[in-house]
Amino acid sequence: MVTFTVNGEARQVDVEPDTPLLWVVREQLKLTGTKFGCGIAQCGACTVHLDGVPVRSCSIPVSFADGSEVTTIEGVAEPDGTLHAIQQAWIDEQVPQCGYCQSGQIMSAVALLKDTPNPTDDDIDAAMSGNICRCGAYGRIRKAIKAAAQA
Ligand code: FES
Ligand code: FES
Repeated sequence: MVTFTVNGEARQVDVEPDTPLLWVVREQLKLTGTKFGCGIAQCGACTVHLDGVPVRSCSIPVSFADGSEVTTIEGVAEPDGTLHAIQQAWIDEQVPQCGYCQSGQIMSAVALLKDTPNPTDDDIDAAMSGNICRCGAYGRIRKAIKAAAQA
């Protein structure tokens, strides 16, 4: 049994402790905004926050999250629906193309702005380098992060 907080809500799941966190998020908790890409911690599509730190949920056993706080893309906006500045900038700058990588991109960008409110291009490159976008939306991602930092 794993007990943790997911998007501010106490949750308990009865799964094998080595089940990847991503499967629990998607299959048990039905939070399907977090995507499966590579499964080997190389693409960033599965990024969630574990105690505020972006992690690749495909490669983390759910037992690591026991007693911790997990945030997924569904928990980024305010409870009243107000979007996070990153989400609003993503819309304003029309960042997504196919969209598949985008929840992972947003989770990494939210974590970046929390730690570095005014990121340089180098900061952005360093924080976002593990998030692959096959559509090549990198220019718009950088622009949106800067717009959110100004907001
Ligand atoms: S699916 Fe987890 S990093 Fe690619
Ligand atoms: S928007 Fe298509 S993979 Fe990033």
